[in-house]
Amino acid sequence: MTVRLDKYICESTGLSRSLAKRALKRGEIKVDGIMVKDASLQLVDESVVTFNDEIIQLLGARYIMLHKPQGYICSTQDEVHLSVMNLVDVAQVEKLHIAGRLDVDTTGLVLITDDGQWSHQVTSPKKHCAKRYRVTLADPLTEELIAQFAAGLALRGEDQLTLPAQLEIVSSHQALLTIHEGKYHQVKRMFAAVGNKVVGLHREQIGAIALDGELAQGEWRELTAAEVASIQA
Ligand code: URA
Repeated sequence: MTVRLDKYICESTGLSRSLAKRALKRGEIKVDGIMVKDASLQLVDESVVTFNDEIIQLLGARYIMLHKPQGYICSTQDEVHLSVMNLVDVAQVEKLHIAGRLDVDTTGLVLITDDGQWSHQVTSPKKHCAKRYRVTLADPLTEELIAQFAAGLALRGEDQLTLPAQLEIVSSHQALLTIHEGKYHQVKRMFAAVGNKVVGLHREQIGAIALDGELAQGEWRELTAAEVASIQA
């Protein structure tokens, strides 16, 4: 596959077209060790491009898991909270987006990528991708809830019942809940619909991807190839 040199510089460094042209003009770009000033030069797969003698490479698609702490938001930062993107120190972070947001007070697994098709598999309501949460509640849980969550609940302001969800009671005030959709504040609203209140919420798993127990809150790592592939349609 061939690619134009100026496009390659922009995509591998994040420089604008005009700054890439300036770098070329100044002789800061070499291809296979030879200074090149021609922006339209076609590179081949084997070409080695340097910028001020440092090798620059195209970024492939990126897939990241983050252990979100409380107090961070999953959108652009506001006056009060930082965005989770501040925790991910990678090049061109502005090209990444979150595949399924968590509330500011929720902790756990957040997937981050620049692959829109991949994140669509995670977030599209039609794909029914499972998300498992560990939920801590204000009031005790009862066994009857298992059938209620499996049958679907009427949430305030929604016309349709929630899709069948799997509730596993862990202790009097803690449960694991697996849902297959992602409505706004869904888990909190499901427990509100049965007269309880969520006081702690932690996402443990999305599809087959479990939060890595080695990651402390605020830490992240790249997904393995198997984890990435597990989300494919
Ligand atoms: N459901 C909620 O209510 N909040 C979250 O952050 C995630 C799911």
